[in-house]
Amino acid sequence: MNETLLKVEDLRTSFFTHLGEVKAIRGVSFSVRKGEAIGIVGESGSGKSVTSLSIMRLLQHPGKVTGGSIVFKDQEILKITEKEMRSIRGNEIAMIFQDPMTSLNPVFTVGNQIVESLRKHQKMSKEEAGKKAVDILKMVGIPDPAKRANNFPHEFSGGMRQRAMIAIALSCQPDLLIADEPTTALDVTIQAQILELMKSLNQKLDMSTILITHDLGVVADVCSRIIVMYGGLIMEEGSKEDIFYRPRHPYTMGLLKSIPKINNEKQRLIPITGTPPDLLNPPSGCPFYARCKYAMVICRTKQPPYFEVDEGHRTMCWLLHPEAPGNADYEAQQGGVRSEAGRQ
Ligand SMILES: Nc1ncnc2c1ncn2[C@@H]1O[C@H](COP(=O)(O)OP(=O)(O)OP(=O)(O)O)[C@@H](O)[C@H]1O
Ligand SMILES: [Mg+2]
Repeated sequence: MNETLLKVEDLRTSFFTHLGEVKAIRGVSFSVRKGEAIGIVGESGSGKSVTSLSIMRLLQHPGKVTGGSIVFKDQEILKITEKEMRSIRGNEIAMIFQDPMTSLNPVFTVGNQIVESLRKHQKMSKEEAGKKAVDILKMVGIPDPAKRANNFPHEFSGGMRQRAMIAIALSCQPDLLIADEPTTALDVTIQAQILELMKSLNQKLDMSTILITHDLGVVADVCSRIIVMYGGLIMEEGSKEDIFYRPRHPYTMGLLKSIPKINNEKQRLIPITGTPPDLLNPPSGCPFYARCKYAMVICRTKQPPYFEVDEGHRTMCWLLHPEAPGNADYEAQQGGVRSEAGRQ
């Protein structure tokens, strides 16, 4: 369980546009252990998709990884050949996207697509693959799977298509599944079912999962660890409990406030005011500076290092510096814990 499957270190990815270099990922490090489900959250444009596309080596022109390393099972992904990468993609790392229609082929039946994927990655006869395809469709909760296997993607509902896409991704029994906003396009009930499915498969197949979403509520149920991204950087990382009950970065605190509470209708959704930083000219200090109500002078000019709050809980925020002048409001928010943890 403690074995590291994926280790991303100081990843930097840019888009070389006619306006200049858009520094989308500016030094991201994290790792995923075998069997672990981690969530990456953050507002639109924070770099969640670019991080996953960098791992999959699926960045489109003019995107390019400019630095860092991505080690998957002791192999440096950034150095292997495209052929070797193709074998990892699909065999060992699978990715599912927000819109299933972009990944499902409209001219083949769903069953056929699973059979193709199975036969591409594992040696088996057509009959065997056909049987296995039905098993997989059943596993992802498609009713009447033997019949449904003969349907084309357009004959499936949105939720079923998403299940079919998960089925294709799972057909090669990947060690790592990267799911980029797999449920955003679905209604709430179906969304919950798909997340439940991902959670049970994660446990059943001992597969690692990276679940990407802009919605903290969605990761709460599936993931044990959460990474909060902003402006191409990781602002805070911790266990689910750390992030939900003991958030230390003002950005994480803002994100938590913006979750609507279903059981309390009067609770208004509080968006974080302001806009994300311009990544063509990224700020030299903390990217959240301009929107942070606790910002200090140093935050504008100097990017904070990571402060370890607790084991496995780190955050990039000057307020955690043991000698930070302190901010009464922030300390009150933390219930006074800042001074304890920060001055250890
Ligand atoms: N083709 C591109 N050209 C220039 N910049 C790009 C390109 N693709 C992405 N970016 C920039 O990279 C940054 C990160 O984008 P990314 O798609 O990773 O965000 P995200 O966190 O996945 O957001 P969302 O929640 O909207 O999916 C953004 O600032 C975006 O403008
Ligand atoms: Mg995205």
